[in-house]
Parts: sequence; C-alpha cells; structure tokens
Amino acid sequence: MPNTATRKILVTSALPYANGAIHLGHLLEYIQTDIWVRFQKSRGQQCHYVCADDAHGTAIMLRAEQEGITPETLIERVSRDHQADFSRFGVAFDNYHSTHSEENRYFSELIYTRLRDAGHIATRDIEQMYDPQKGLFLADRFIKGTCPKCRADDQYGDNCEACGATYTPAELIDPVSAISGATPEVRSSTHYFFKLPDFADFMQRWINDGHVQPQIRNKLMEWFEAGFNEWDISRDAPYFGFEIPDAPGKYFYVWLDAPIGYLASFKNLCEREGLDFDSYWRPGSDAEVYHFIGKDIVYFHALFWPAMLHGANLRTPTAVNCHGFVTVDGAKMSKSRGTFIKAATYADYLNPEYLRYYFAAKLTSKVDDLDLNLEDFAARVNADLVGKVVNIASRCAGFVQKLGGGTLSEHCAEPAMVARFIAAGDDIANDFEAREFSRAMRRVMELADEANTYIADGEPWVLAKQEGREQEVLDICSVGINLFRQLMVYLAPVVPAMAEQARVFLNLETLNWASRHAVLSHHAINKFKPLMTRIERDKIDAMIEASKEDLAEEKKLKETPKGPLADNPIAAEVSFDDFSKVDLRIARIAKAQYVKGADKLLQLTLDLGGETRNVFSGIRSAYAPEALEGRLTVMVANLAPRKMRFGVSEGMVLASANDDGIYLLSPDDGAEPGQRVT
Ligand code: MSP
Ligand code: ZN
Repeated sequence: MPNTATRKILVTSALPYANGAIHLGHLLEYIQTDIWVRFQKSRGQQCHYVCADDAHGTAIMLRAEQEGITPETLIERVSRDHQADFSRFGVAFDNYHSTHSEENRYFSELIYTRLRDAGHIATRDIEQMYDPQKGLFLADRFIKGTCPKCRADDQYGDNCEACGATYTPAELIDPVSAISGATPEVRSSTHYFFKLPDFADFMQRWINDGHVQPQIRNKLMEWFEAGFNEWDISRDAPYFGFEIPDAPGKYFYVWLDAPIGYLASFKNLCEREGLDFDSYWRPGSDAEVYHFIGKDIVYFHALFWPAMLHGANLRTPTAVNCHGFVTVDGAKMSKSRGTFIKAATYADYLNPEYLRYYFAAKLTSKVDDLDLNLEDFAARVNADLVGKVVNIASRCAGFVQKLGGGTLSEHCAEPAMVARFIAAGDDIANDFEAREFSRAMRRVMELADEANTYIADGEPWVLAKQEGREQEVLDICSVGINLFRQLMVYLAPVVPAMAEQARVFLNLETLNWASRHAVLSHHAINKFKPLMTRIERDKIDAMIEASKEDLAEEKKLKETPKGPLADNPIAAEVSFDDFSKVDLRIARIAKAQYVKGADKLLQLTLDLGGETRNVFSGIRSAYAPEALEGRLTVMVANLAPRKMRFGVSEGMVLASANDDGIYLLSPDDGAEPGQRVT
C-alpha cells in the first residue's frame, strides 16, 4: 500500500433499509466505518465516505401503504430520520443519497444493459405464489401456513421455526398470504436472471485474492462447493423500484440496485465536488474502494457485486470488510426485554461517544459478534475515558492556569517520555489501518496509565504547597498536558466531539496525526471544562424502559393503520344499496373537550337536531376544542356503538387527512343539524 503519496480512498457502509429506524446493531457498522474514515482523513489521505438509504422493494411499498402514504413520502421521512440519527452519533458521511435517485437509475440501467449485451442475462418463466386479493407475487416470507413436517402453525414460507425443517411455500399446509390472509395461487411469470455461473472462475479467484477476511473466504468456498444457480434479478409489478429497460412491468429486484447505490451516491458527490468519478471506477484504477458490511449480507457483496462490476467492465472493490452482530447482555437484541435499542432512544439518555468508545474498545478485524454488556459498558467507559484520559487534563490544567498564567513551561521536562508517546502513534496507526481498534485502544489506555503514574509520582499537588517549587509543578503539569494531547490525537477518530473540545482547550489548530510531532512548550492553553462525565446506571435503565415503550408504540401503529384514504388505492366497489345503508347526518359540534390519557382524541358532543351523540374522534392534533364548538360537520349516525377505554363512541365524524393535517368536513351555510346527507 502506498504510504508516502496521498491515497485516494472511497469507503462505504451498507445502505440501511428505508422502512425502519437505525438501532444500535446498525450503529456498530456506521461507527466502525466512521472511525476508519476519520483515521484516514487524520492521516491526510483523500478519503470519501458515502452511503444512502436503500429505498426500494416490497417491504417499503407495503409499509407505506400501511401508513396511508406514498413510498416517496415514506422514504423522504425515513431518510431525514436516518441522517439525524447518524449525525447525533458523529457518523460523518461525505454524501448521503438514496437508491431511489436518478443517478441510481442511470447506473442500474448501465450495468444491466452491459451485462445483457455481453450475454449474461437469461429469461425464463417461473411459478410462484400469488396473492389474488392484493394482486401481488409473494416472497416466501410473506406466506404463512402449517409446517408439513411437524404441523406447527403460523410458520413462514421457507422454514419452520418449531422444527427447523426447510421447504418450499407450495409444501405448506393451508398456506395464506401474510399480507391479506387470502389463499395464494400458483402463477407463472417471466423472470430475468443474472448468469452467475458465467463468473464462477472469476469469483473463486477474487475471494482467494485477499479481498475478504479469512473466515469469510472459508464460508464462501463452502458456497461454491454446494453449487449455485443463476440469480433472479426481476420482480413483477406492483413493485417500488426501477423498471427494467425494454421489459415493461418487470422491475429490478431491490438487491440488484442496492449496491449500485454506492456508485450513485459517489457520483452525486463527484458532481457536487468536481471529483473524477471514472478515475475511481475504471478497471485498473489506482484508487482504493472499501465496503464495510455485516455478516448477513456477504453473498451480495463478496460474490454477486464483484461479478456484476466485472461483467460490466468496472473495477472491483479493494476489500469487503465484514463485521459480526451486536448482542446486548449476551443475547440477540430483544424488543420485549428492551434491548432492541434505537439510536434516537439511546441518544436521548446517553452520550453517543460512550458507545463509539465501547465499540472501538471491542472491535477487531474479525467477524465475531460483539456483545454490548451494559455493566461492562459503564465500567469501561468510566474507567478509561473519564478515569484515565480526562483525569490527566483535569489534574494538570488548574496548576498551569495558576502557576503559568495558562502558559505551558518553556522547556519540556520529560522529552524522552513525550517522544515515546509520539512514537507510539506509528503502532497505533497500524492498528487503526488494520481495523484492530481494540488493540489501538489498549495501547492508548496503557499510555494513559503511564501518564497518570507519572503525575501521581510527581505529586504536583504536594509540591504546590511547598515554597519555591512552582516551576517544578508547572513542568510536571506541562508534560501531563503534552501527554494528554498525544492521547487525544489517537482518540480523535473514536470520540470526535470530545476531541474537538480538547482541541479548543489545548488551543490548537488541529489534532490530526502529523500535528502530534510538535511538542507544546511556552504554549498558551484555554480554561479547562470537563470533557466527559461518568455514565450513570439509572440513565441506562431509563433507556431500557424507553425501548420497551418504543415497542408498544410500534405495535399500535401495526394494529391501527392510519385511517385516511389519502394516498391509498380506491377501495373496492360497493352497490348503491350498500352505500345507502350508511346514515350520514349534519351534526353541530355542541361541545368539544380533551380526553385524559388519550393524546390523539377529542371527545365531541354532537347535536343532531334534538338528539345528542357522544363521539371520540382522532382529530386532536389538528383542532383546539374551542375552535370546534358551534361548527357544523357530517357524521355517520348509524355506526355500531364502540366501547373504548374512555367511554362509548356513538358514531363518527368525517374527515380527510394527509401528512400535513386533518380536514374535518363541513356543509355549506344553511344546512341544519339532523338533516340527512345523501
Ligand atoms: N439494505 C441492506 C443493505 C444493502 S447494501 C447495498 C441491509 N440493510 S439493513 O438496514 O438491514 O442493515 C444495514 C447494515 O447494518 C448491514 O450491514 C447489517 O449487517 C448491519 N446490521 C443490522 N443489524 C445488525 C446488528 N444487530 N449487528 C451488527 N450489524 C447489523 O441489509
Ligand atoms: Zn415444523
């Protein structure tokens, strides 16, 4: 690897799906990548870090439908949420884009047509389960039924969680669509395939050429031995994605255009910053390209993706860096235990840099899972960052203010020790480069121990009480500050916000890797402010409780898909007779009030021209009760009464809604309460 000239490096993290929140499991990856990127930038490399939301596919289409919004509205909202989460955790992408973008359409079509023209695309008819009610082909995970082996019910279409059997959905007993509950039918349609076997030799060579970790290589070789097929890259309409050129009604499968999203995001960055895209992606390019991913998506990145790139005459990645999965307190993250922790929930209670440090302290270049043990998390962060590192600065800063007027000694009292701390930067850099963050953090904490021992042995607080020894005190503390500065250079990629505060305290232009060579003497520093406080256990407990509440919220959303038909397809036809069974009446809102314990509802007393009705309506977010009183609206007067937690609701008022608000219907002037609406 070239070490003297500036390296050109492009780095990616996997593109998170646009139908869910970022959680601590995701964050392992984005934090790992961000640390590596910050390290490269600290070393002066030309490094670009891009990502995007993975916005296509059936799951996103269905989720949008369930929320009563368009997929475009959903993915815009989720993209904003994702970016807000990443920024709270200091994950600093140079560009964050979307796979639902023009750049991505362009590159998906380009790669596809190049593969097709080179003869690597095949078509053939396949039979698949089809939901006749939804008008959708069903992926295996959208089919449920009774296990053909052990007869457990409610099992998914490809494997049984009770007995572990694997099967095809057609073998399930009494299969139903998990989306509509309808009985699926078998239907045939034409699919497009990427002819992976054409690339068997290429893929074997590639994974044996040092582009993947040894554990991954072994796993992939097993895949070769098992034999493999062509890859189905098309899905039938309706599908949220890109239509395949010259194949109306056929869409690229989400996993075809997802990795191409790396190119799309980088292209978008190149356009903005005037970078030369082709110099990174042409075959034989001298730029380095790294993908950071989790172990669940290795096939896509280490086999299909290099084959696609190679087949389309683009360069292949320098390496695919794979990490393991996050567990919490030794178990898979669990919604009911409150250990399925969303990024936003964590950040509401705890400093994100605690987590960045903890992950760094445990990350290696291997694929092992990483346990977030909450006891150990608090103990480790408190002992290392607060107890060791911050402590050095806080012990020394006061004396430098008092005895040096805020200026460090003219001469360094321990040049050999400071030089050793500077030299340690070379080994630490090698560890960062090799993604051995845990080893880097161990080295940094060993240095911190040495620095603390040096200060403890010098006892500046004892000397300070003796007359005439002020210079000695200032000398010791100036060395302490210099050692602290070295540590912050090494920690800056891991805890950038803390490092920024330290930079201000140290009154330095930069804490980049090279800057550490200039020893600070006769240098003015600023007033010390605590750089990080200890983790308190009650904050962790509160975060776990809040995560349990997140789960309750989600359940509610699933059970009550938003009513408004705003973006929903038009419902099935009804006969005029059916329609006329609905008794719609003009109603006057006689009284409107808040409902204790219900943050979405208003309680309305409706006057139907003599008769009154009590109705609970979910319009609180849009209307203050006072604004409604006296107003006319339209109600369903013969709706079966519904018992709610707050009382019985005797009908409903009619309103429409979209993302911006709720719109209650009102009749023109002159209508009278009680009048029938037809
Ligand atoms: N959309 C795909 C990736 C497409 S990349 C062209 C996807 N998205 S994801 O949101 O499910 O996951 C994003 C990344 O987070 C993946 O690399 C995945 O491995 C990682 N993780 C998701 N849960 C994780 C843990 N619990 N632990 C560690 N990483 C995890 O896959
Ligand atoms: Zn079974």
